[in-house]
Amino acid sequence: MRHDTGLSSHTAHTIALKGISKTYGPVTALHSTDLSVEKGEFLTLLGPSGSGKTTLLNLIAGATGPATGAIFLDGRDITQMPPRERGIGMVFQNYALMPHMTVFENVAYPLRARGQPGKIIREKVTEALARVGLSGFDDRKPRQLSGGQQQRVGIARCIVYSPAIIMMDEPLGALDKNLREQMQGEIKRLHKELGTTIIYVTHDQEEALNMSDRICLMAEGRVAQLGTPDELYFQPRNRFVAEFIGESNLISGRMSGDGSIVVAGNRSIAVPGGKWTEGSELLVMVRPENVRIRGIDERLDAGRNVLNGKVTSSSFVGGTTRVTVETENGLNITAKVMSVRAELRPETGAKVQVGWSSTDTVVLEK
Ligand SMILES: Nc1ncnc2c1ncn2[C@@H]1O[C@H](COP(=O)(O)OP(=O)(O)OP(=O)(O)O)[C@@H](O)[C@H]1O
Ligand SMILES: [Mg+2]
Repeated sequence: MRHDTGLSSHTAHTIALKGISKTYGPVTALHSTDLSVEKGEFLTLLGPSGSGKTTLLNLIAGATGPATGAIFLDGRDITQMPPRERGIGMVFQNYALMPHMTVFENVAYPLRARGQPGKIIREKVTEALARVGLSGFDDRKPRQLSGGQQQRVGIARCIVYSPAIIMMDEPLGALDKNLREQMQGEIKRLHKELGTTIIYVTHDQEEALNMSDRICLMAEGRVAQLGTPDELYFQPRNRFVAEFIGESNLISGRMSGDGSIVVAGNRSIAVPGGKWTEGSELLVMVRPENVRIRGIDERLDAGRNVLNGKVTSSSFVGGTTRVTVETENGLNITAKVMSVRAELRPETGAKVQVGWSSTDTVVLEK
């Protein structure tokens, strides 16, 4: 077991999963998965309910054993190592604080369990509480704290013994939106200060985009795509990723001989060149914020991808307005535009043009 000398001595570690899988009777919670988490990386597991995120964390923590495969911490096989010896810290959604213990004793708990001397415990707990902005809260009981403060205690209790890896399973799930955003900032700051490797679980895509170095998007016990927030957003690998991360217009079409895609009404859409063969049935994806919209009389210069249509709905949500347009060849295209005053916004029924640049499109397999 490792005994570090102080919080500032956090050193970053790596985790590698090779062919790891998990079954519960007839249910495959996780199909054979390879995943490497780099030193000091903030990796987020993102995905719908039941996609295998908690299963993956439990396997890394050793709370459950895999059906197949192996887990390596800094290159060393820990698949059979008992959880306590792995040095992996966990922060839970429900905080899991001990209600009868003070804040100090909750945070001290992992150090006491490791038999550390009283003087060291006092120093480390004081430093951990300072790091999460809870200096002076030592003697309170968890019930005397707000939800956000309780979660900070949960985080302090995790970082106090300098675990090799920190894992957080929906740690902000119980907090309201404002507090959630504030805590996102604080966890990012802590990650930067400690330089530790963090594996974070959420099903909130904005939280994942905001916080992560890389996102591992999961679906039905498999990795749907692993990449930076930019890669997942701008280069989704398939329809599931395109629809899960952000909003998207998806247009069905067929690859033509000249490299464009023929869609409804025999209209052709310009797309970036790719590996697709003539005749392939494909989807063209364009994000609503990349769709331009103009009155029918104005010229919309967006290459070849300009379609006439009429506005079917327009919803003003503050900074942006979502406008849906039914084009004359029968497509429904959503544009997200910067809001302007009501009298300048296109009304339902108005004739408009929608258009987008070919460089803002991504071609996906159907
Ligand atoms: N102990 C168990 N026994 C049987 N099936 C389980 C068990 N734990 C998880 N599962 C199943 O494994 C699958 C993955 O579950 P998991 O808890 O990893 O999902 P998750 O991505 O964490 O979901 P959520 O976002 O709801 O927390 C689900 O189909 C779930 O029902
Ligand atoms: Mg879960």
